[in-house]
Amino acid sequence: MFETLQALPADPILGLSVAYREDPNPDKVDLGVGVYKTEQGQTPVLSSVIAAQNRLVATEQTKAYQGPVGSEGFNVALQQLILSDDPALQQRAATLQSPGGCGALRLGAELIREINPQATIWVSTPTWANHIPLLGSAGLKLQEYPYYDPASQSVNFDAMVEVLKTVPAGDVVLLHGCCHNPCGTDLTLEQWQQLADMARQQGFTPFVDLAYQGFGDGIEEDAAGLRLLAKQLPEMLIASSCSKNFGLYRERTGAITVVSATAEASNNARSHLMKVARGIYSMPPAHGALLVEEILTGDLKQQWQQDVAEMRERIHSLRLLLANALADAGDFSFIPQQKGMFSFLGLSPEQVGRLKTEHSVYMVDSSRINIAGVNSGNIDYLAEAIRKVL
Ligand code: LMR
Repeated sequence: MFETLQALPADPILGLSVAYREDPNPDKVDLGVGVYKTEQGQTPVLSSVIAAQNRLVATEQTKAYQGPVGSEGFNVALQQLILSDDPALQQRAATLQSPGGCGALRLGAELIREINPQATIWVSTPTWANHIPLLGSAGLKLQEYPYYDPASQSVNFDAMVEVLKTVPAGDVVLLHGCCHNPCGTDLTLEQWQQLADMARQQGFTPFVDLAYQGFGDGIEEDAAGLRLLAKQLPEMLIASSCSKNFGLYRERTGAITVVSATAEASNNARSHLMKVARGIYSMPPAHGALLVEEILTGDLKQQWQQDVAEMRERIHSLRLLLANALADAGDFSFIPQQKGMFSFLGLSPEQVGRLKTEHSVYMVDSSRINIAGVNSGNIDYLAEAIRKVL
C-alpha cells in the first residue's frame, strides 16, 4: 500500500536544521528553529537542569509507569508557575502533564471537540505554523483573526477586535501568552483586559499558548495577561511548554491547564483529558517533568530564575546588536522593541531564498528569524548578507 505515497516536503521550520547541517559553507548562519543559543552557537543544558539531573540520577528508584496524569508534583508546581500562588485560582484549575507544549495544544483541541464538535478555533494571522496541524487534526474548524501589521511592525488591535467581535459563544480563541511566535509583538495589559471583557460578554473561551514564559519581560510579567483572564473569566485553557524556559526541548515537557468555574468542573475536564491522553500516547515521558519538579519545589529555583534571566537578557542585547548592525540598511528599530526569540525581518520569500542559496543564511520563508542565532562572530557577515539582498 505504501507505493501510492509521494514523499512530502520537509517541515517549513524543522527542515531548516537539516538543510543548515548539510551546508558546507563555514560562514553559514542558522536563524531557523527556535532554540536558544550561546555566543558559541551551542544550545546548553541549563545549570539548574544539570544540578537537578545529578540529583535525580542519584535518587531515582524506579522507572515504573506514572499513568496518563504524569507527575502530580510537576502538575502542582507548573500550575503555580503559570497561575501564581493564588489559592482561589488554583482551586478552580486542574493541570495535566503533556508531551511538550504541542501535546498540550492537541489535548486541548481534543477536549474542545469532545464538548462541542461544531466549535471553531480562531488563530492569529500569522501564528506558529504548527498550530494549524496540531489543532486542525483534532477535527475542528480553524479561522483566522488579524494580528500583526507588517507596515507598523506591531499589533493591529483594532482589526483584531473587529473580527473577534463576531466570535460566537462556544468558539475558542487561541492567544499567545507572551513573545508571539512568529512576530515578537505582544498585547498590552489593557488589550488583555479588553479581550477578557469580550470573552465574558460573547461567551467564547480563550486558549492561551504559553511557550516562552520568562523570555519577554520576566517570569511573572510574561504570565500577567493570562492570569488576568484566569481571574476574571469562568473558563479558559492554557497550554504551557518547558522546552524553552527550562531548555528541555527534546525531553517533551509541558502541561495543559483547565480553568473552570468550579474545582469539580476542572477535575472532570481533567479526567477527560486523561482519557484522550491514554488513547493517543498513553502517558507522557517522565524525565523532563521530574527535573522541573525538582527545580521548582526546592533550592534550585533561584538558580533557574538566573538561568532564565541570562537567556532573556542575552536575547535582548542581541536585538540591539542586530538593529545597530542593520541601521544603514533600513529602519530596523522595531527589533529591540519586540519580545522573545522571534522577529520578522520584513523580507520577501525571494530575498529569503537568496539569503539561503547565495549566503547560507537560514530563516523561515516568512523572514522570521531566531534572534538567539545571532552572535558577535556572525553579526557582520549576517548584516552584510541582508544588505546585499535588500
Ligand atoms: C519554532 O517555532 O521554531 C519552535 O517552536 C520549534 C518548532 O517546533 O517549530
